[in-house]
Amino acid sequence: MTMNHAEPVLDVQGLKVDIATPRGTLHAVRDVSFQVRRGETLCLVGESGCGKSMTSLAVMGLLPKAARRSTSRLAVLGEDISRARARRVNALRGNKMAMIFQEPMTALNPAYPIGDQLTEHYIHHRGASRPQARDRAVELLEKVGIASAGQRLSQYPHQLSGGLRQRVMIAMALMCGPELLIADEPSTALDVTIQAQILRLLAELQAELGIAMVLITHDLGVVARIARRVAVMYAGQIVEQGPVAELFAAPRHPYTQGLLDCIPVPGRNRPGEPLGTIAGVVPALYGDLPGCAFYQRCPHAQPRCRAPIALRGGAGARQWRCVLHAEGGRA
Ligand SMILES: Nc1ncnc2c1ncn2[C@@H]1O[C@H](COP(=O)(O)OP(=O)(O)OP(=O)(O)O)[C@@H](O)[C@H]1O
Ligand SMILES: [Mg+2]
Repeated sequence: MTMNHAEPVLDVQGLKVDIATPRGTLHAVRDVSFQVRRGETLCLVGESGCGKSMTSLAVMGLLPKAARRSTSRLAVLGEDISRARARRVNALRGNKMAMIFQEPMTALNPAYPIGDQLTEHYIHHRGASRPQARDRAVELLEKVGIASAGQRLSQYPHQLSGGLRQRVMIAMALMCGPELLIADEPSTALDVTIQAQILRLLAELQAELGIAMVLITHDLGVVARIARRVAVMYAGQIVEQGPVAELFAAPRHPYTQGLLDCIPVPGRNRPGEPLGTIAGVVPALYGDLPGCAFYQRCPHAQPRCRAPIALRGGAGARQWRCVLHAEGGRA
């Protein structure tokens, strides 16, 4: 398919995810819009439970059964797949878009050697022969830094360390040469140095292959090193997004400010300096949250924050959902 270069690789508009639970409907993702362009990394950050994984699963068409997606536009390479048949979405997934899961065993089947798992989609989507697919698998295992790649193909996932499993999963995601890669934060079960290696590898591959990447992380230090744009999520909404440097230098949403106060960012915090915490808890995501979801925890909360708050700023530039900053200056 030919593609207009001005067209974002991923264009999400008005995404909502509702999950049916015994307690009622949980609004896990509430009107989320963002775009990612070719060669660009967008980081999605926010506390546990804010809807990062649900957002990415919704884009990939991989939501759990209890979850329902609605969206006004979900376009991959210019093709709106918000109402596409499962068959079409399956064809795009693995081919044009791929995902790296938070937990590698979500993607790897314990019952098959990794070689079979790496080659399966390539044979299916590309009509490749077995030897071609095997060559491609070896090439990618080497690319993700796995030594003696040829011998690894016959191994089972449980024979690999957590770090190697992550690398295999990255190789698997790249087999068909996707243009969009969504990487959910490498499992926090990995130790810190391995996690850092995996993130560095992802950043290198993204730059080398020029793909559009959405990287989900809790870590603003990672954002500062890897991404050009960042979207900050809170309670199922994007409360602020924009270029990383601008957003870190002058956050416009108090939640972003709170995150920056909590997490060491190279150059902002001196080693050993105590970090802040954001007092209070995330609101329950059942029922309506008409005003600002951060209201209960915000040091600047005002009565007008209880009314609906429109997104301010331009779609391509900075956007924020807070009354403190009017367009073009302080309110
Ligand atoms: N299968 C499910 N059934 C019911 N609720 C769910 C399910 N999966 C997720 N949720 C809820 O949906 C909301 C968003 O979850 P999500 O997994 O997207 O968060 P997250 O930002 O990825 O968090 P983390 O950083 O911990 O991975 C949470 O409130 C979570 O409890
Ligand atoms: Mg998650």
